[in-house]
Amino acid sequence: MKTLIITGASQGIGRATAVEMSNREDIGNIALVARNEKNLEETKALMNPKCNVMVVPHDMTDLEGIEKIVDKIYKEFKSIDLLINGAGFVNPTALLDTTIENFTQTFTVNTVSMLVMIKACVRYMKGKDAKILNIASTAGSTSRPGWVAYASAKAGVISLSKTLADELRDYKIKVYCISPGRCATELRRILAPEEDPTTIMQPEDVAKIISNLLEEEENCLDGQDIIVRQK
Ligand SMILES: NC(=O)c1ccc[n+]([C@@H]2O[C@H](COP(=O)([O-])OP(=O)(O)OC[C@H]3O[C@@H](n4cnc5c(N)ncnc54)[C@H](OP(=O)(O)O)[C@@H]3O)[C@@H](O)[C@H]2O)c1
Repeated sequence: MKTLIITGASQGIGRATAVEMSNREDIGNIALVARNEKNLEETKALMNPKCNVMVVPHDMTDLEGIEKIVDKIYKEFKSIDLLINGAGFVNPTALLDTTIENFTQTFTVNTVSMLVMIKACVRYMKGKDAKILNIASTAGSTSRPGWVAYASAKAGVISLSKTLADELRDYKIKVYCISPGRCATELRRILAPEEDPTTIMQPEDVAKIISNLLEEEENCLDGQDIIVRQK
């Protein structure tokens, strides 16, 4: 039985993915990471009860603490086979209005904590046919005036995913990167408050694609920026 860690599991795409992955027969253990413990418990309640679920409240800006939570998860489940990096933060502001705090928070949650999380997990994944999936954004590969911190942080996610797909191949670890377009979540509401969420892609649509990519048989889509967008 495989063990999966999902960050950003308290709502939106991360929650839908946790539910989707809990229905897979090859997955027995799932660790849910985010700050809001109550929302993580709500995610757990929606999941297939056949899975062992560990709720791990953690603020990803506490970079030093990431290795500790990964050690705790490994101690409990004795393996780490799959990692989905879904934690994301956006506070869209034009360059001259963006504070240092906003730049730092945006890059730390979306990009730096992802690198730290991957490093912590790879210690346990080496040589095990493991898979890592990072959630970037179409904002990372196109111009987004007014969202410069978020867009450039997501460009970093695309870049780190391509590099690590090559670098970690020797460890038999595959690294995937998806870039969703507009998806009906709280993060999207912050970016486009006037938009009707029923007219855009739903978190469950993205969750199904993530699950497909993390199937053992999927063997050729790693190391690419996979755009997930409704026509
Ligand atoms: N929705 C879209 O249109 C869209 C498009 C492209 C890419 N994405 C990406 O998809 C991913 C999931 O986002 P979403 O759309 O599902 O948004 P969401 O519903 O707002 O979820 C964001 C998740 O990130 C977690 N998070 C935020 N700050 C955190 C922190 N400091 N420490 C730990 N966890 C933190 C939140 O949990 P807590 O608040 O409980 O900590 C939440 O679980 C993100 O990487 C986002 O950038 C979304």
